[in-house]
Amino acid sequence: MQTLFHMPAIPKITAPAMVEEILGDDERTQLIAHIKTMMAQQNAVLVAHYYTSADLQDLADATGGCVSDSLEMARFGHAHSASTILVAGVKFMGDTAKILNPEKRVLMPDLNANCSLDLACPADEFSAFCDQHPERVVVVYANTSAAVKARADWVVTSGTAVKIIAHLHSLGKKILWAPDKYLGDYVQKTTGADMLLWQGSCVVHEAFKAKELAAMKLAHPDAAVLVHPESPAEVIALADVVGSTTQIIRATQTLPNREFIVATDNGIFHKMHAAAPGKTFIEAPTAGVGATCKSCAHCPWMAMNGLRSLAHVLETGANEILIDSLTQQKAILSIQRMLDFAAQK
Ligand code: 13P
Ligand code: SF4
Repeated sequence: MQTLFHMPAIPKITAPAMVEEILGDDERTQLIAHIKTMMAQQNAVLVAHYYTSADLQDLADATGGCVSDSLEMARFGHAHSASTILVAGVKFMGDTAKILNPEKRVLMPDLNANCSLDLACPADEFSAFCDQHPERVVVVYANTSAAVKARADWVVTSGTAVKIIAHLHSLGKKILWAPDKYLGDYVQKTTGADMLLWQGSCVVHEAFKAKELAAMKLAHPDAAVLVHPESPAEVIALADVVGSTTQIIRATQTLPNREFIVATDNGIFHKMHAAAPGKTFIEAPTAGVGATCKSCAHCPWMAMNGLRSLAHVLETGANEILIDSLTQQKAILSIQRMLDFAAQK
């Protein structure tokens, strides 16, 4: 008999307008020099996500920081000796850095840089939902607020989700999963675990279109299709490789194909070109019959990060991430559980 659950209503998320930083060459050069000086003076390291601008990614690389997926961003900031961590990404990435490093100063270029998954999972409603299902292990995606992580037993990233859920399933555990319904569905199908799914989604990945992707595959028969698992099931079904941003960048190096169709934020192309020079990367389609995408293949919240705002926070100390100590003490447990698990595998 199928069990029926009452699912909480998901808040309607409106993505902000896309505003990307445009710099002239002189201003870029001056800003980079100024930021480098301030970073050295303030013992700061820059940790950037692949979806941020090429300028920020290059600056992170040039100053001994890192450009990576959300798992490695958390690991790198935690292991680094800098007393200030600059997080170029979205709010949950800054929160995670602060939760793991309460003694360090964590600054972000723009505190409005959120994520539709995080916004789709308000902590009070989520906590009430968990209370209704005490028999389930609560597993949340990293793309959530500190308060949601504090309510969870485990945090996972796209790079660890399948292994951790498979592990819990092997122990006979039932899962309450939040917030991404597509990633949850993919993990459920891959592992066979009993998962109750919160119904959030990523506005960027949700916009990829399976029918148009199938047509693109026909037009590029030698291309491998790389898909981030925040995408809809029909898009994932067409993939040669499904994985975190780091995992799909690696696939451009390990697969023999010369051409790739890529279903994730197009900011990732900067690192793909560096990882696999000479290969061709094509954006998976977000347009087509019935297309609704507002932020086609680029995250409007990630785009809020820029060199100007980074310089501003270093000059002023603005945009510091602060998390109350009770939330931090609870949330670190579920994040540390993931990091310990990932370190053993
Ligand atoms: P990754 O951990 O795979 O980089 O994913 C983070 C994210 O927000 C993708 O949209
Ligand atoms: Fe969130 Fe999607 Fe942006 Fe990633 S791409 S930060 S999941 S809104």
